[in-house]
Amino acid sequence: MARIAVVPGDGIGREVIEQGVRVLKALQPGLEYEWFDLGAEKYLAEGVTMPDGLMERWRSDFDCIYLGALGDPRVPSNVHAKDILLGARFQLDLYINLRPIKLLDARYCPLKDVGPKDMDIMVFRENTEGLYTGIGGQFKRGTQDEVAIEAEMNTRKGVERIIRAAFEYADKHGKTKICMSDKSNAMRHGHDLWQRVFKLVAAEYPAIASSHLYVDVLAMELVRHPAQFEVIVTNNLFGDIITDLGAILQGGIGLAGSGNINPGEVSLFEPVHGSAPDIAGQGLANPLAAILAAAMMLEYLGFVEDAAAVNAAVAACLINDQITPELGGKLSTSQVGDAVLARLSV
Ligand SMILES: NC(=O)c1ccc[n+]([C@@H]2O[C@H](COP(=O)([O-])OP(=O)(O)OC[C@H]3O[C@@H](n4cnc5c(N)ncnc54)[C@H](O)[C@@H]3O)[C@@H](O)[C@H]2O)c1
Repeated sequence: MARIAVVPGDGIGREVIEQGVRVLKALQPGLEYEWFDLGAEKYLAEGVTMPDGLMERWRSDFDCIYLGALGDPRVPSNVHAKDILLGARFQLDLYINLRPIKLLDARYCPLKDVGPKDMDIMVFRENTEGLYTGIGGQFKRGTQDEVAIEAEMNTRKGVERIIRAAFEYADKHGKTKICMSDKSNAMRHGHDLWQRVFKLVAAEYPAIASSHLYVDVLAMELVRHPAQFEVIVTNNLFGDIITDLGAILQGGIGLAGSGNINPGEVSLFEPVHGSAPDIAGQGLANPLAAILAAAMMLEYLGFVEDAAAVNAAVAACLINDQITPELGGKLSTSQVGDAVLARLSV
């Protein structure tokens, strides 16, 4: 049976992951869990962010990591989040950041006349390269002559595997088109590589229509006419921004789940939101993003019907106002968990 490393983390991460695990246990009682109490408390008490050898254990002993959120005002450097979450992304080579933009209830979309049939997009964000590798440096720091360089890394291997993953997904899920987004008009080196590799890979999938938009145009088009998109593939920075735009279009970060995937290897699933210190510990956190991330994890593990059932149960809760206060509802975090479980009839 599959083994899951559960990392609730900080703040509301702990509250929402509890609800997600309830759903997982109800649907798949055979899954094995090991809980890891990592986060700000451990760092403040012991000075430890990521214990020695743990990343290797996750790699060898687990199928998935289910993570809440990391971040605490008492740790302004956020060093623990960097070591645990970014550490996992890079060290476990979780090169696909999978972020659905799926509208479940038209009332939560800020766009007019847009319903669930108009917004069902899967975004493939490259997750291990781009502008987030920390390559660069500062020269004459703190002086008037300071120079700060942040280099964007694009490797042939990295670009090809994320583009290929998007086409593979489209092929397997009956999607008919993929849009690649870059800024190759202004970024002539790295994004020219994206252009060339996209065309090469697209040629292998003649049944899938491929298109391209500069990222600034993509941002406008996502707002103007989201129904035109099925699958989007883009780099790390642009994917980060575009999927946050997508989160708002689908109803806010309380409804956005994500996967950090290395196909066939241990992969990490998490809600998109952070630890929300402003509402932590009050039962106000919306657990639906974490529950949707759990559904993505079920699908990754091959429990496709369970994943679909969770998505349907979450949609039904939204439509029937079984929601937390930030969406205008009256239910607490655990009451929303109860409502999802009741709709799953497990
Ligand atoms: N993946 C992660 O672990 C992750 C992601 C983003 C931010 N963070 C960290 O979280 C901390 C807080 O960051 P932030 O305030 O910028 O972002 P945040 O996502 O934690 O919160 C932003 C706003 O959205 C609300 N919110 C977030 N999730 C919610 C939910 N499930 N239900 C209801 N309301 C919700 C919060 O109350 C807050 O008003 C920081 O330390 C940050 O570094 C972690």
